[in-house]
Amino acid sequence: MQASDPSTYVLFGASGNLSRIKLIPGLFRLDQAGRLDPKMKILSIGRAHIAREDWQKEIKGMLDAKFPKGYDQEVFKRFIERQHYHGNPPTDPDAFAKLKQTLSDASVFPQNMAFFLSVRPSDFATIVDQLAGAGLTDESNGWRRVVIEKPFGTDLPSAQALQASISKHLKESQIYRIDHYLGKSALQNILLQRFANTILEPIWNNEYIDHVQITNTEMLGVGDRTQFYDATGALRDMIQSHILQTLALTAMEMPKDLTPEGIRNEKIKVLEAIRPIPVNELEKHAFRAQYAAGEIKGEKVPGYLEELGNNDSVVETYAALKLFIDNPRWKGVPFYIRTAKRLHEADTRISIRFKKAPLQLGQDGQQQNWLIIGIQPRECIKMEIQSKIPGLDIATRTIQLDAANRQEGDESIDAYEALLLNLIEGDNSHYLHISEVEAQWRLVDPIIEAWAKDRKPVHQYPAGSRDPEASKVIFESEDQFWRYSIELGGDAH
Ligand code: BG6
Repeated sequence: MQASDPSTYVLFGASGNLSRIKLIPGLFRLDQAGRLDPKMKILSIGRAHIAREDWQKEIKGMLDAKFPKGYDQEVFKRFIERQHYHGNPPTDPDAFAKLKQTLSDASVFPQNMAFFLSVRPSDFATIVDQLAGAGLTDESNGWRRVVIEKPFGTDLPSAQALQASISKHLKESQIYRIDHYLGKSALQNILLQRFANTILEPIWNNEYIDHVQITNTEMLGVGDRTQFYDATGALRDMIQSHILQTLALTAMEMPKDLTPEGIRNEKIKVLEAIRPIPVNELEKHAFRAQYAAGEIKGEKVPGYLEELGNNDSVVETYAALKLFIDNPRWKGVPFYIRTAKRLHEADTRISIRFKKAPLQLGQDGQQQNWLIIGIQPRECIKMEIQSKIPGLDIATRTIQLDAANRQEGDESIDAYEALLLNLIEGDNSHYLHISEVEAQWRLVDPIIEAWAKDRKPVHQYPAGSRDPEASKVIFESEDQFWRYSIELGGDAH
């Protein structure tokens, strides 16, 4: 593979967590893989003035922390030479003019530029205004791209306001809206598994599928992000973004080609075809809960309200929705999507249950077939089928075909690493179009609003437990249950 075009990568919020843990190490790994042009430069921006040599020491510290077993010293020498630093104090009215001055030295900085805004969401619009004011978004001397981290707005009106503000200065092709799940190889694989095989697509519809579950559970709690989380909640944090994107890839029609437009157009169509949840029947379609104190891996952990220090919060750490997609392929098929912090297992997967087989044995019939696509921690595809138990009688049991997508020696690439490369290559297929962001807010906004108004105490589940029993209220039929990752055809009980 070739290296990308020479470019300058300008990183706002360079000393923040995302940059330390993901962005700088991700760029290092791209350098190691020979995917960065020899002339490529990285200009980190922070509020303080820091000398270049001191910043280079900081970068070394970030790499030491990320790669404790060591890293290639040849690559390190090359990588550290790419590093520059620019102090942009918020109090300096000429800060962006000075930044422009620094960047205009084409003998140091290639004039293709990617601006990565790893800053507070409330600063996105202001920084774009200032970049444009300084002439830095003008593409006469090279491409200029701006990356906006999640969340893009906190609801539909604020997302539209942000869009209106940044689109005064940027064309859609210059805006890269991140959802880091789209950088995960396992998510990218969904399209390949569906469309690069013949056997799945014919059964991928309401004729064969009973329902689909898209699940993301974590064992972690909200950690030190209590204030952020209490202003956000699980619906905004995970469902509006990562889970709806996973649903879009699972349910979309085949794109006419694998170009960014091809893929994004089909995702937009399917997201827009999701039926709005009827707010007057919310309890049949949406369920929320909060974790209480409990045990994770044998250790006692506090509940959400305790961590927050506020008993009044009705913000959900568990959210489950039932959605229907109003198109011919999915008519009548429920999609149950859920996310939770502090559940008994950390697992992200798509579980598909097929309809009953034409031949039913005995009074109870047999288990239905499941197909499970594991996203994390294990990337795999599993199929459960019924098979005769050898012996004199006719009886079946479930057997599992289980294929790991990952084989020994395969590269493991962090989602950000993949997205950073796409960015400098100008490939925005794994970034969000504004219409996707809007469709996602349109779906979750009415639920968030209804939940915020409902001040009744929220259902509690002990940390480390399985889904709250009460969440089953959203199932369409009595024989549906939350599918877990381990058991064969396992029920929640
Ligand atoms: C983030 C959320 O977007 O995704 C976090 O803000 C969540 O709350 C995280 O923990 C999950 O990402 P991953 O890649 O660890 O599954």
